Amino acid sequence: MKILVTGGAGFIGSAVVRRAVADGHSVVNVDALTYAACLENVASVAASPLYAFEQADIRDRAALDRIFEAHAPDAVMHLAAESHVDRSIDAPGDFIETNVTGTYNMLEAARAHWVRQGKPESFRFHHISTDEVFGTLGETGQFTEETPYAPNSPYSASKAASDHLVRAWHETYGLPIVMTNCSNNYGPFHFPEKLVPVVILNALSGKDIPVYGQGLNVRDWLYVEDHAEALLKVVQEGAVGRSYNIGGENEAKNIDLVQTICRILDDKRPSNHPYAEQITYVSDRPGHDLRYAIDPSRIREELGWRPSVTLEEGLEKTVQWYLDNEEWWRALQSRTGVGERLGTKG
Ligand SMILES: NC(=O)c1ccc[n+]([C@@H]2O[C@H](COP(=O)([O-])OP(=O)(O)OC[C@H]3O[C@@H](n4cnc5c(N)ncnc54)[C@H](O)[C@@H]3O)[C@@H](O)[C@H]2O)c1
Repeated sequence: MKILVTGGAGFIGSAVVRRAVADGHSVVNVDALTYAACLENVASVAASPLYAFEQADIRDRAALDRIFEAHAPDAVMHLAAESHVDRSIDAPGDFIETNVTGTYNMLEAARAHWVRQGKPESFRFHHISTDEVFGTLGETGQFTEETPYAPNSPYSASKAASDHLVRAWHETYGLPIVMTNCSNNYGPFHFPEKLVPVVILNALSGKDIPVYGQGLNVRDWLYVEDHAEALLKVVQEGAVGRSYNIGGENEAKNIDLVQTICRILDDKRPSNHPYAEQITYVSDRPGHDLRYAIDPSRIREELGWRPSVTLEEGLEKTVQWYLDNEEWWRALQSRTGVGERLGTKG
C-alpha cells in the first residue's frame, strides 16, 4: 500500500511512519515542520526506498494537489494538526486554520485525486482524531463511538469540526473514509511540552514538577507504538464510513501517573532525594476536562486489536528512552514556548 501520512514528523505520525515502513508499505510523509516537528523522529527510515518526504503545509491546497498527483497514494492517514491544548487557549486561530481549514483542504485534494483515479473502492481517507471531542466524563462511564460530541477547549472544538467535515465528505461525496478517536498517547519521541516528558525532564534537571489543580484529572493512557499498530489495522481493515475508539485500557489520575514516573526514575537514575519531592501543584488549566475513558469494544471485537502494554510497562520503556536519548530532547528544549507555562489566558 502507498500511504500519504500527514504530520509524520510529529509524535504519533512518526510512529506510524516507522511502523508502516517496517511493515513494507510505501510512505509519503507530508509535514510543514512546525515547532512540534522533528525529522530525527523518522531518521531510522529516511534512507529507505519506501520513504519519501514532502515539506508542505496542509493550508496550501495547490501544494497538496501537486503531492497527490506526484505520488498517487492508495490511502491517506491524516494526523497533521496543532495538538497542544494549552497553546490552543493562547492562540486558537492557528488551530482553526490547520485543524479545520487544513482538513478541508486535505479532503478536497484527496477527493480530486480519488475522482481522477476513477473512484476506486479500495481508497481510504483515515482521519485521526481525539477522545477530547466527547467532552468530559464524571466518575463513571466510558466514551463509545455513539457518545455525542461536546468539546470544551479550542483544540477539541477544532478537532470536532474536522471530524464532522470528514463524515460529511463520506455522506455527500462517497469518499471512502475511516475515523479513529484515541485517548492520550505517551512514549518515545513525545515533544517535551506534554505532561509525561515534562515530568521526566523536570525531575532530571531538579526543577519543580508541575501538576495542574489537584492532579485528579483522569486520562486513559495509550502507548504510542500500540496506537500506530491500531491505526495501520484500521486503515487496512476498518469498515468504510465507520469510526473506532482507541484506548489503552489504562486509566490513571494525573497525580498517580506522575508518582509512578518519579518511582521509576528513583530506580533507574537515583538522586539524593525521592523525585516525588519535586512535585508542585499549580493553578488549573481553564476548562480542564475531569475524566476521559474509552470503551474499546468495537476495535477489539471487529478488528481484534488490544493494547500490548500496561501503563507501568509503557512508562518503564518511555523513561528508559528519555534516559538514552538526551541529545534528542535537549535540542528541542530551546523551541518557542517549551518549558513555559502556557494556556493561562482563559
Ligand atoms: N498526542 C495525543 O495524545 C493525541 C491524542 C489524540 C489524538 N491526537 C491526534 O493525533 C494527531 C497527531 O498528534 P501528535 O501528538 O503526534 O501531534 P504533534 O504536535 O506531535 O505533531 C503534529 C505534526 O503535524 C505537523 N503540522 C502541524 N501543522 C501543520 C500544517 N499546517 N501542515 C502540515 N503539517 C503540519 C507538525 O509539523 C507536526 O509534525 C493529531 O491530529 C492529534 O489531534 C493526539
